[in-house]
Amino acid sequence: MRLNSRFGTSSLIYASLVLVLCFKASGGSAERSSAFFIFGDSTVDPGNNNYIKTTPENQANYKPYGQNGFFKEPTGRFSDGRIIVDYIAEYAKLPIIPPYLQPSADYSHGVNFASGGAGILSTTNPGVVIDFKTQLEYFHKVQRSLTEKLGTAEAEEIISNAVYFISMGSNDYMGGYLGNPEMQQLHPPEDYVRMVIGNLTQGIQELYDRGARKFGFLSLCPLGCLPALRVLNPKGHDAGCFEQASALAFAHNNALQAVLPNLELLLPKGFKYCNSNFYDWLLDRINDPTKYGFKEGESACCGTGPYRGIFTCGGTKKDPNYELCDNPSDHVWFDSFHPTERIHEQFAKALWDGPSSSVGPHNLESLFFDKQTIADVVDNPETQQIF
Ligand SMILES: *[C@@H]1O[C@H](CO)[C@@H](O)[C@H](O)[C@H]1NC(C)=O
Repeated sequence: MRLNSRFGTSSLIYASLVLVLCFKASGGSAERSSAFFIFGDSTVDPGNNNYIKTTPENQANYKPYGQNGFFKEPTGRFSDGRIIVDYIAEYAKLPIIPPYLQPSADYSHGVNFASGGAGILSTTNPGVVIDFKTQLEYFHKVQRSLTEKLGTAEAEEIISNAVYFISMGSNDYMGGYLGNPEMQQLHPPEDYVRMVIGNLTQGIQELYDRGARKFGFLSLCPLGCLPALRVLNPKGHDAGCFEQASALAFAHNNALQAVLPNLELLLPKGFKYCNSNFYDWLLDRINDPTKYGFKEGESACCGTGPYRGIFTCGGTKKDPNYELCDNPSDHVWFDSFHPTERIHEQFAKALWDGPSSSVGPHNLESLFFDKQTIADVVDNPETQQIF
């Protein structure tokens, strides 16, 4: 009798637990996540470059890329596994967002237009990448096909609720400027940064005009500390980070940081964004790797030469031999230009629910799930009158 009633109680508890879980699950779909559209370069390319004519340096669909086995085979991601947008999609309860050029890709949760080597300017690595302008044209095509498939109202709702993530600019400063003496002759650095930011701003505005409202930005890392750029330091291999490269990234980040609040004023109908300081965040890990659970902040896991900064990861026709570390997770850098999965994961976490001291004015969680934040209250003119 006692045993029976105990059994009865526990199955009741079990039944209500199942009910609660079901309720939560359906509650989760009411709190439907926003779609996710991604623009950028190799930091966020999930394999678009597998489908274009380009050079081996701009592709990563061969071993040891993707070696940690999360994906069955190398996908084209420049990482030992996942990249930042894969984690963001997971936190947002979305499936993996497919590359735009993948045949029969499903666009219903968004799509990724990023292309390794791409720049904001069309003059950056021309002919071998999908530049920002073309990525924006592809977005327009997706928008038209959503409208045809779902009708104007539903398509508009998807577009305005979606989060637009932009991770671009590094290639404009590396290949597009430092590797391009003619460009340096034509434009002093301040001019060039203004041009890059001008074109980025134009792109944001174009997306806004098409209905986009919620934006996330991955600011630039200290470019001169990439293993590939340490090797190119004109002061010598052992002189540390290539200062001029880091200075360009720093100036770019400052300019972006200054432009975004202006856009918020210029585009008043619900323009919201998430930005953060990836520069200092990564520099901390490069300079003090053990503090963050890494063993090596300067040398890449994969490559040859000093800092494994010579970009031979995966082998090339010129040099099929390359070195590979045992445990990529010990390293900040996977190859001469790109961080490891572990860095991607840590930064995705920081952008997702980082405090307003490090991510702002909104974090990605509040953009995806439309949570009210302090920034909303302060932005709202009606509440401002109260203060
Ligand atoms: C965009 O970049 C081009 C060079 O590629 C430049 O001529 C143009 O002025 C830039 N646009 C803006 C708005 O800065």
